[in-house]
Amino acid sequence: MKTPNKIYLKDYTPPAFIVDQADLTFEIKEDHTEVTSNLKIRRNKVDGDNLKVRPNLKVTSKKASLVFDKGEFEIVSVIADGMVLLPEEYEANDEVFKLAKTPDIFELEITSILRPHENTSLEGLYKSGDILCTQCEAQGFRKITPFPDRPDVMAIYSCTIIADKTQYPVLLSNGNLVKSGDLDNNRHFVRWADPFKKPSYLFALVAGDLDHIEDQFKTRSGKIVDLKIYSEKENIDKDKCNHAMESLKQAMEWDEKRFGLEYDLDLYQIVAISDFNASAMENKGLNVFNSKYVLANPGTATDEDFMNIQGVIGHEYFHNWTGNRVTLKNWFQLSLKEGLTVFRDQEFSSDLNSRGVKRISNVRNLRGSQFPEDAGPMTHPVMPDSYIKMDNFYTMTVYEKGAEIVRMLHQLAGEEKFRKGIDLYFEKFDGMAVTIEDFVAVMQEAAVLDLEQFKLWYFQSGTPTVTMERSYNPDLRQLVITFEQSTLPDRNQDIKKPLHIPVNFGIIDADGKDITPVDSKLLELQSNKETFIFNNIPENSLASIFRQFSAPIKFKTDLTDEELAFLMASDTDEFNRWDAGQTLFIKEIKQIINSIQASKNLSVSPNLITAFKKILLDQNRDRAFLAKALSLPQETEIKNHFDLVDVTAIHKARKFLKQELAGQLKHQFLDLIDLCSESDPLSISHEAMADRSLKNLCLSYIGCLKEKDTTALILDHYESAENMTDELAGFKILSQIDLDTKQRAVERFYLKWKHDKLVLDKWFAVQAGSTLSHTLESVKALTGHLDFSMKNPNKVRSLIYMFAMQNPINFHQKDGGGYRFIADQIILLDKINQQIAARLSSCFNLWKKYDDQRKSLMQKEFERILSIQTLSKNVYEIVSRALS
Ligand code: ARG
Ligand code: ZN
Repeated sequence: MKTPNKIYLKDYTPPAFIVDQADLTFEIKEDHTEVTSNLKIRRNKVDGDNLKVRPNLKVTSKKASLVFDKGEFEIVSVIADGMVLLPEEYEANDEVFKLAKTPDIFELEITSILRPHENTSLEGLYKSGDILCTQCEAQGFRKITPFPDRPDVMAIYSCTIIADKTQYPVLLSNGNLVKSGDLDNNRHFVRWADPFKKPSYLFALVAGDLDHIEDQFKTRSGKIVDLKIYSEKENIDKDKCNHAMESLKQAMEWDEKRFGLEYDLDLYQIVAISDFNASAMENKGLNVFNSKYVLANPGTATDEDFMNIQGVIGHEYFHNWTGNRVTLKNWFQLSLKEGLTVFRDQEFSSDLNSRGVKRISNVRNLRGSQFPEDAGPMTHPVMPDSYIKMDNFYTMTVYEKGAEIVRMLHQLAGEEKFRKGIDLYFEKFDGMAVTIEDFVAVMQEAAVLDLEQFKLWYFQSGTPTVTMERSYNPDLRQLVITFEQSTLPDRNQDIKKPLHIPVNFGIIDADGKDITPVDSKLLELQSNKETFIFNNIPENSLASIFRQFSAPIKFKTDLTDEELAFLMASDTDEFNRWDAGQTLFIKEIKQIINSIQASKNLSVSPNLITAFKKILLDQNRDRAFLAKALSLPQETEIKNHFDLVDVTAIHKARKFLKQELAGQLKHQFLDLIDLCSESDPLSISHEAMADRSLKNLCLSYIGCLKEKDTTALILDHYESAENMTDELAGFKILSQIDLDTKQRAVERFYLKWKHDKLVLDKWFAVQAGSTLSHTLESVKALTGHLDFSMKNPNKVRSLIYMFAMQNPINFHQKDGGGYRFIADQIILLDKINQQIAARLSSCFNLWKKYDDQRKSLMQKEFERILSIQTLSKNVYEIVSRALS
């Protein structure tokens, strides 16, 4: 294949033409859709300043010709200012549409033919089951009609949809419904108009036989907004959209309260779609969602699903201001909307649920996925400087690390001044397409902060490491703390500069009392090494640093095991209590791994058992927190603590530790299971969910004992479950016991749920995650199962991605069979859905951390993938970066 071009931020130039108005007509036919776009276009007056962006660009007096982005479809007619153009008067191929000469202001009407039922990329206009829908972010609009498909071209849109009335009774687009009526031959039409200017990536259309639920929300200024959630009829009948509706109203209320932001249209619509590449999409007034993030009732969805739905509904709603009203100047600014909106959805979930528990989940996610991303071939700054396919940059770094940067700003400014900054942001930039630097500048102005150094967080990749050392002088009662920071150079070997790092800081005395001096709750690190002195500190006090995980860094301390155990039990900061425990677990697992590698006898230190038991018996704590505190880090998290990963030893060590804890504390676990079994199985109150999470965690400890009575207990729990949380938890545990037990659970689960697509995703995922032997064979066989489809991203994620990313012991099996299987799937998938194929390719990213044999096996697979002549740019970008 020919090496694809890289797009660079430094090459940004303003658009040569602006579209002020786009009137679109979709005529939906049996096997194609005819799209006519009528565009009001004007030449952009290029100001001198912008030209400086590319000094090497030759500036001539000749006016630029019109070049629009275009996908692979056929144009049937082009009309400019009422004149039909002959095919030789314009140029069109699979990438661009060109007009050599145009007036400065004119109208262009282009009619094209699309074949949505053949579009398996799920980008542009496509079919999901019998529903026709769109996904335009980042660059899918060009697959619908020729257009300057870039976020800094903002237009007013209208959309007329014409279709068969029986097949497509519901016709939706952005904005407000302005007209509808019947036509001949059982056809009808609907016309939508969106009064707000928007970039093309926010355009949406949905057509199909959908049912819906509706509700209303009264904004604080008294406006009534109609809320509608659409899905296939059977889901509406089973009340599966109610939780999403509840979440939407909560989000609307929260955004008014916390950010003073009100909704701006009279209608807010959400559609649940089965085949969807991402989680959801914030199209103006018409969100399109992966059905996984809409549909739920206690029978079919877990507590985690309920929480995720609330979070994603919030996320897309919050985009209406952070993303839609203020949008991006170019795609390099993606984190401007995503980082900020993730921060907002995290705050939403924290305000409505348990803040400490939410923070723990977010940090686990960040450490488990973003840190490794930043330490591998895909490392990039939160504001990337180049890409081949933008879709590859919807990353943990842009989203999650981006949110951490906003969180640090919030920390530095304080809630009140942060709000002032946000207010100023909208005051200055409403209706505009702006940059991350614009955002930082308003924050700096409104919060009166110097953010010059802080800004580096956006431009410098990699995870900084901060070390802490202490010394105590009993005569002076003085505690001296020294911090050092450093960030490893990345692939370009650029030396990293010191960052501005907020340290949420505390000191607790030997009785566990918080004695932090009032002026020391927030320390700021700005250079490589910094020392802080605290006077009047009693002996044996302990520093608790990076409370609430106040910066996205790795930290190393000189705390002893006894001190960690003390913090685990007594720190007043919930996050740090959890984190001290995790550090202890990791230390213990490392020690067990050493014994495994040295072929010594294995043992668990009695101190760890004592510390664990203390937490287990702590009845005063929130049970949701206890469930987190008692969870061992996953194998995929443990591996991040090693430069050379020994998959087998990690698996064995974790299993050994878990079995030891379960064996020695069996009675305590059993008691706790009883204690937590009393809440209403159908309630999703915090207490009920907390009970279930702790109960199911205890069951997973007990389950790994694989004794007759314990397995019977799990089986009973599984078979008598009254909600999906308990049922799935039981199923997962059984799938790890032995092949026979697993197989019986697999069959039972399938029989019960074969009619429900989303529950079947869980069925595939549990099997793909089983650490028992023969899992590779079983996953291979499941790719041929009637309910599996490579065209459905949720299925691919549940079975194939799950196996590659969450089942290290089987994926990394020594003969390379796992690698070969995944590479085969990548090659297959690349012909169907390139975005999803590229995501799957990233499972090889950390290949350099494995032993020579595995490394060379993985390398062989890369080479095989790269040798495919028709390989997509998406997969090429990921695999070639991994190999370099
Ligand atoms: N903007 C959407 C969201 O964060 C995600 C779009 C994903 N697009 C993609 N090409 N991966 O809510
Ligand atoms: Zn988003």
